[in-house]
Parts: sequence; structure tokens; C-alpha cells
Amino acid sequence: MQSVRHFRGPVLGIETSCDETSAAILIDGEIASNVVSSQSDLHVKWGGIVPEAAARKHIENMLPVIEEALARAHLSADQIAAVAVTNRPGLVGALSVGVTCAKGIAWACGIPLIGIHHLEAHALSPMMTGEIEPPYVCLLASGGHTELLHVRGVGDYSVLGRTLDDAAGEAFDKAARSLGLGSPGGPAIQAAAESGDPARFSLPRGLADPTLDFSFSGLKTAVARTAASLADDADVHDLAASLQDTICSVLADRTLLACDVVGSNAVSVAGGVAANLSLRSKIKGGAEKKHLRMSIPPIELCTDNAAMIAFAGSIRLERGERSELDLDCVADSPLPGEVMYEPAFE
Ligand code: KG4
Ligand code: ZN
Repeated sequence: MQSVRHFRGPVLGIETSCDETSAAILIDGEIASNVVSSQSDLHVKWGGIVPEAAARKHIENMLPVIEEALARAHLSADQIAAVAVTNRPGLVGALSVGVTCAKGIAWACGIPLIGIHHLEAHALSPMMTGEIEPPYVCLLASGGHTELLHVRGVGDYSVLGRTLDDAAGEAFDKAARSLGLGSPGGPAIQAAAESGDPARFSLPRGLADPTLDFSFSGLKTAVARTAASLADDADVHDLAASLQDTICSVLADRTLLACDVVGSNAVSVAGGVAANLSLRSKIKGGAEKKHLRMSIPPIELCTDNAAMIAFAGSIRLERGERSELDLDCVADSPLPGEVMYEPAFE
């Protein structure tokens, strides 16, 4: 498929918005390498991400990760033709490490620089396999964001709905903490849920249907309360399975409803929570029933990675867009070109 045009020449992507230090090389839209160094082992002892510790770890990891990405792509630094870097939204101290490094490379090599919106990169990541192209409905579910988008093109996004409180990933992470399952919570809940009974506990779905918005704070409280009264590991697995089933059903049902609302015949899921196997199978099943085109990125492209940054960067660079060397880092930022959409039933 691949109708978008990419920058010619190798693009180095850099991602340091949260707790993954990542560098990737993309050549004409194809991934030549994608190296991700996760800090999750570092932050687990604090029960959450400590921004200053994240930034310092990025400083330590950044250059080795870039060197590894170059080595795996069989390139030397002087063969890079452009640099794309996440500059928003995220932890500003963490973002600064990647942005400063990207600027140094762009300046020293005399090559173009482009700052990329992290969530735009997630929203475009379904296109990376070449199986889907805009327009499509995309559920973007990560640790900090949960949004339903209508992706009509690059820089052309309607926000169909979003969470009013916690993000879906945050709900997984907080529930895992209540259940003593460690972090990151999503994979821990998924593993515990494997041997659990998803029908054992009835948990709140948040907002009443029909809606394209989400609310996970009631679910978080219900899980914390129920967790305090569990007797053994089997109960923990049952609660993990019930929680996973509730979150994934709500996400999948509203994503499929969003396709009806905007009349879309294509659907995808992106962001760290899209790595969840239960969510992937619910969306797949629903899409098949509705005869929708569906493509979900492979798991390593759902969680934070620099290949998606290089991909979004390569498209924007090909359009002639460039960032200056005074490129800033921003903690909160809307998607470039986003507009809000009010579904008729609300
Ligand atoms: O997109 P991402 O890697 O980082 C952010 O931009 O936030 O998403 C991280 C989130 C975390 O909350 C993590 O628990 C969740 O994605 N996650 C999962 C799974 N893998 C990662 N949630 C559910 N199931 C998974 N398998
Ligand atoms: Zn992310």
C-alpha cells in the first residue's frame, strides 16, 4: 500500500519522552534498526517513574543506543541524512536529553532536524507495516493518554473521544500495584490474567454507553478495594483477568462504535496498551464481524520506540518541514492539526 512519501536517505529517530531510551534508523520508510533500552527495572523500586532519574539514565544510555542502532543498520554516523526526535509531550527533563543529542548530531553533520509529537508517531504507527492508510479510526492507548482518533491524514486528526481521568495504561499500572504485581503493570496484569477467570469479578465500565469517552478512575478504586480482601494467588489471577477483560472490552467496544459514528471502514490500535493480546483479539474479532480493514502494529512498535519517531519524521521531512536548532521540549501539547469532534448521541 504505502502511499505516503518518505525522505530519501537514512533518518535517525530518537525517543526519550518517558522511560525508554530508543534510537532507530529508517531508510525510505523501511526499518533498518530499532534499539530500545528500557529503564523499567530502575523505576520499579520507587513504584513509578521518577523524572530526574529517567533523565539521568537517558544521558547514560543515549549514545550507546545510537551507536547500536547505527551498527545494526551497518551505517556510520556520517551516512545519516536527517534526525527526527520526540520533543513533545513528555517529561521535559527526559525529552531534553534526546533533543539536545539530536541537535548536536544535526549541527555537527549539517543535516536537517525535525521535532516530532510522540502521540502523532503512535497514531501513524499502524501505517508502518504498509497494511493500512488513512482514513482510519485509531485507538491510542498508552501510559499517559487514551484517545479515539479519526486519522484522515498526516496532521489531520479528529479527536472522537478521550479519557476524562486516568489513561488505560495508568489503570493497568495502578491495578498492578494494588495487586502487588510489579511494573510495568500492563504486561504483569496480562501474565497474571492468563490463568484467571475473567467472569469472576464484576467491575465498573466507567461512563454509560453510548459514548466515545472513557473513565477508568472508578475501576481503579474498585480494584484497590477488592484487592484488599483477596485470599490467595488464584484470587489475584481472577481479579487481574476480570480487570483486563473490563478495560479491553470498553476500549474495543468504543473503538468499534467510533467506526460506526464516522463511517470508517478501517481500524487500528496504537500505544503501549495495544500490546495487550486480549485487546488485540477483541478488536480483531469486532473488525471481522463488521468487515472492517484492520491492522495493529507488531508489539515492538506499540510500546515506545524510535522507529515510529523516524517514520513520522521521514514523512514530515519529505514534505519539506524542518525544525530550527532552538527546538524546545514541551510537557503537554495537542496533536498537530487536531480538531475536536462531538458525536451526535452526546
Ligand atoms: O506507549 P507506551 O509504551 O508509553 C507511553 O507513551 O506512555 O505505553 C506504556 C503503557 C504502560 O502503562 C504499560 O503498562 C502499558 O502501556 N502496556 C500494556 C501492555 N504493555 C504495555 N498494557 C496492557 N497490556 C500490555 N501487554
Ligand atoms: Zn508512548
